[in-house]
Amino acid sequence: MKRIAALLKSDPSMQEITVKGWVRSFRNDRFIAVNDGSTIHNLQCVVDPETMDRELLDQINIAAAVAVKGTLVESEGKGQRVELQASEVKVLAPADPEDVKKTVLSPKRHNLETLREQAHLRVRTNTFGAVMRVRAALSFAIHRYFQEQGFYQAHTPIITGSDAEGAGEMFRISTLDPKNPPLTDDGAIDYKKDFFGKESNLTVSGQLEAETYAMGLGQVYTFGPTFRAENSNTSRHLAEFWMIEPEVAFNDLQDNMDLAEDFIKDVIQYVMENCADDIDFLENRLTQEEKSKPQAERSPMPLKEKLEFVLKNNFKRVSYTEAIDILKNSKPNKKKKFQYLIEEWGADLQSEHERFLVEKHFKCPVILFDYPAKIKAFYMRLNDKDNEGRETVRAMDILFPGIGEIVGGSQREERYDVLKQKMDTMGIPEEELWWYLEMRKFGSVTHSGFGLGFERLVMFVTGMGNVRDVIPYPRTPGNAAF
Ligand code: 4AD
Ligand code: MG
Repeated sequence: MKRIAALLKSDPSMQEITVKGWVRSFRNDRFIAVNDGSTIHNLQCVVDPETMDRELLDQINIAAAVAVKGTLVESEGKGQRVELQASEVKVLAPADPEDVKKTVLSPKRHNLETLREQAHLRVRTNTFGAVMRVRAALSFAIHRYFQEQGFYQAHTPIITGSDAEGAGEMFRISTLDPKNPPLTDDGAIDYKKDFFGKESNLTVSGQLEAETYAMGLGQVYTFGPTFRAENSNTSRHLAEFWMIEPEVAFNDLQDNMDLAEDFIKDVIQYVMENCADDIDFLENRLTQEEKSKPQAERSPMPLKEKLEFVLKNNFKRVSYTEAIDILKNSKPNKKKKFQYLIEEWGADLQSEHERFLVEKHFKCPVILFDYPAKIKAFYMRLNDKDNEGRETVRAMDILFPGIGEIVGGSQREERYDVLKQKMDTMGIPEEELWWYLEMRKFGSVTHSGFGLGFERLVMFVTGMGNVRDVIPYPRTPGNAAF
């Protein structure tokens, strides 16, 4: 069966076809707008009320599922090429108008909060239909990009025994009876008696396993769910999110930046070309939303202009040390809403610092690199000390306007002794990561990779302001409903 997206682009034909979808509106007992999920647009189906049973007409309600048989003819209505001249309508599944009224399926503007409470129905609204189609297209574009560049997808495990980021933000999984767990002689829970014979967790990143695969297959990427038990209730953090992690043997930090920039531009370009109707819709939606905001908080660019801007301009590459100098020399803005000043080299950047750099200072995507070793993960490649004896690692974060950090990556520490020493000083247990360390004994070469937060990319491309609105069923602290 042809999808409505394809039918709307085709020419009128005298052939009889059937479309199946859900009723979006029914006017004057004559015009049924049917949507099958394939496009933001509805197919107008024109019925002749004279020839139709009253009982049937009464069942053609919003949200009901229908099958409409007819011929595709040139449309007299504005803004559509074709419409379906219906010869037969079947209501496949009814929807009670009184029940529909209580839900987000009712035809009025619902706020995003209400939509979140009905996550099982929201995909049937225009906004979520568009966002989820764009999300799916981005996912396809990501696979396409890496496959075309000769990468292999590596399926890294979801259940792991190790903490890839060393940040202690893992969800522990356990099959032990919480009311009556087995205890050790010291009275502690005995995880040796758990399913895996040890403590295990949901992965926070597939990077470490991907590195081992890059050492065999050369260029790999992961694309899977990752889990973080960080208690951050923000519009950018999820407890379950999807991450894309390429890992490339022989790439240094510069190569890594080149790859990340080329990759992001490619997938944005794909969506602009292939989801034009949805992007148009989302741009209009955003423009409406912006109107209700105070002038100062409005986005300076409409959605498509913003996406094109990213495609056309080089990401600005700035070292952490340079960024600190900029921040130190910047004045807090008049209203003192943000304090941009940073006193110390070595401090981690807060999101207001990042926003200042991207949105106020450079006004374009920024790649920050060479961060202080102390504030970054143990696996990053150590640089030689700088003139002032400070230690940095070959890390890079990509910061996007309105989003903040969208990518985190680095060149990896390939030297056995340096890595071992780093693990010791940072308290990373060798008994968990002996395999990661051992890999450094056998042809261990320069290699690099990064992680792109998929939902943050979807946010940027769709213009949605909250990460909860770009994933079907968001998981956040205190919320795993549905
Ligand atoms: O910077 P992060 O923590 O880096 C890593 O996990 C590395 N192992 C990646 C690598 O080098 N292979 O996370 C990478 C990206 C962030 O830049 C952000 O976009 C996203 O993942 N991210 C989250 N997205 C949504 N919710 C969260 N709680 C996120 N935490 C990180
Ligand atoms: Mg990070």
